[in-house]
Amino acid sequence: MLRKSLLVSLLATFGHLANAEAVPPMRDATRGELLYTTNCITCHQTQIHWRDKKVVKDWASLKAEIRHWEGFSQLGWTNDDVAEVAQYLNTLYYHFPKPY
Ligand code: HEC
Repeated sequence: MLRKSLLVSLLATFGHLANAEAVPPMRDATRGELLYTTNCITCHQTQIHWRDKKVVKDWASLKAEIRHWEGFSQLGWTNDDVAEVAQYLNTLYYHFPKPY
């Protein structure tokens, strides 16, 4: 319930920003991006070094790590949610070859 309305208001916000000049030209925010920025970014911004730990080495470990953290935050994500966030993070940081 809360998640849904948060997502909706985020979507509305992104819709607005898309027209603003301050935002660099960018593809639309994906579902994975919204899920991640809504639920996960807080820690990762304050603990920037998390990316250097290299827990993640491939798609399997990336998804396992996402599963771990969504479980940690008790978000109840579906496999689709995990896959969407994996794709988002892969595009951003990991650049593994697409498995599908
Ligand atoms: C409570 C703070 C916190 C939250 C919330 C959190 N993370 Fe993390 N995350 C960390 C820390 C700290 C690490 C560094 C690795 C470690 O110590 O296990 C990490 C590591 C990771 C990694 C592995 C990084 C790498 O390249 O090895 C992934 C992927 C990740 N988090 C995804 C997520 C996702 C997805 C969410 C949201 C569901 C999330 N995290 C929420 C703190 C957090």
